[in-house]
Amino acid sequence: MARPSKIRTAKAAGLTAVALLLTSCVHNAPQDALKPKGTVSRELNNLFWPVFWIAVGVFVLVGGLILIAIIKFRERSEDEAPVQVHGNTRLELTWTLIPFLLLAGIAIPTVKTVFDINRIPKDGMVVEATGHRWWWQFSYPDQHFSTANELHIPTGQKIVIHLTSVDVIHNFWPPELAGKLYAIPGRTNRMVIEADQPATYYGQCAEYCGTSHANMRFRVIAQTPNDFETWVAQQRQGPATVDPTLADALAGQQLFGQTGCAGCHTVQGISAGIVGPDLTHLQSRSVFAGSIFAMNPNNLRAWLRNPPAEKPGADMPNLHLTEDQITKLIAYLETLK
Ligand code: CUA
Repeated sequence: MARPSKIRTAKAAGLTAVALLLTSCVHNAPQDALKPKGTVSRELNNLFWPVFWIAVGVFVLVGGLILIAIIKFRERSEDEAPVQVHGNTRLELTWTLIPFLLLAGIAIPTVKTVFDINRIPKDGMVVEATGHRWWWQFSYPDQHFSTANELHIPTGQKIVIHLTSVDVIHNFWPPELAGKLYAIPGRTNRMVIEADQPATYYGQCAEYCGTSHANMRFRVIAQTPNDFETWVAQQRQGPATVDPTLADALAGQQLFGQTGCAGCHTVQGISAGIVGPDLTHLQSRSVFAGSIFAMNPNNLRAWLRNPPAEKPGADMPNLHLTEDQITKLIAYLETLK
């Protein structure tokens, strides 16, 4: 019968094979860093593959030599001591020189890539990305407005992200467009992203930052320069005035001031809270609450009933609103196009 350790090894090898097989079956992985969709991620990818294949070569060589040593020089009889070897200068020089040359060779493109991707263009459009527990704020300082969870950028342009945090350390990572960078309180880090094609790219906070770390997602929405300008013009406008025939929406607007929403949220010209996302154009976004819920009345209702139940640890408290108050607030939020 096979020994327990052999069974364990066989099981581990089997599981590894299944895991590798499943990994290779994954299609439509929206956060695949190996499928670059922009200049910066492509540069990183162009560095990754040669280094990966060199590592594969080293693995095969070293693994092969170990196998040869194990099989060819295994113990054959119990009482015969093997030939004792003390040092082999030529061999030692070889296994020192080869890794040295490999690492020196890899260092050249690595250092070049590090400098290339960290070169901040002076005329690049600036977006300030600020990490909050647990959502991302995106401000456009030149265009004077702020949004949340969805970062709009024009395609074919280098965008300079000024990255910081208001509470703990977060990490900004849109895998298809760029590498990761820390968002650190009291400090501004800068990174460049650029997208080739109009599309929505998924991103994620990549540094454990508390209970809802996994709920701190975002989307980069790359648009043609024309579509982007249209979006900017729309975001720069104040909120639409509430149609006076919409009684619920008007009542909701009152509640927005009375129940405490206004203390934390900005609606341009109406409130100036800075704790939560700017809601001036809430309905222009497709997701809310750290990009985890689709923007629709049902999700907004569940959220307003009890935010921390929907996103554990959320700063927004349970305001113990009645269903009627929630209906009115949603009617108001629906006007924030
Ligand atoms: Cu923010 Cu993890």
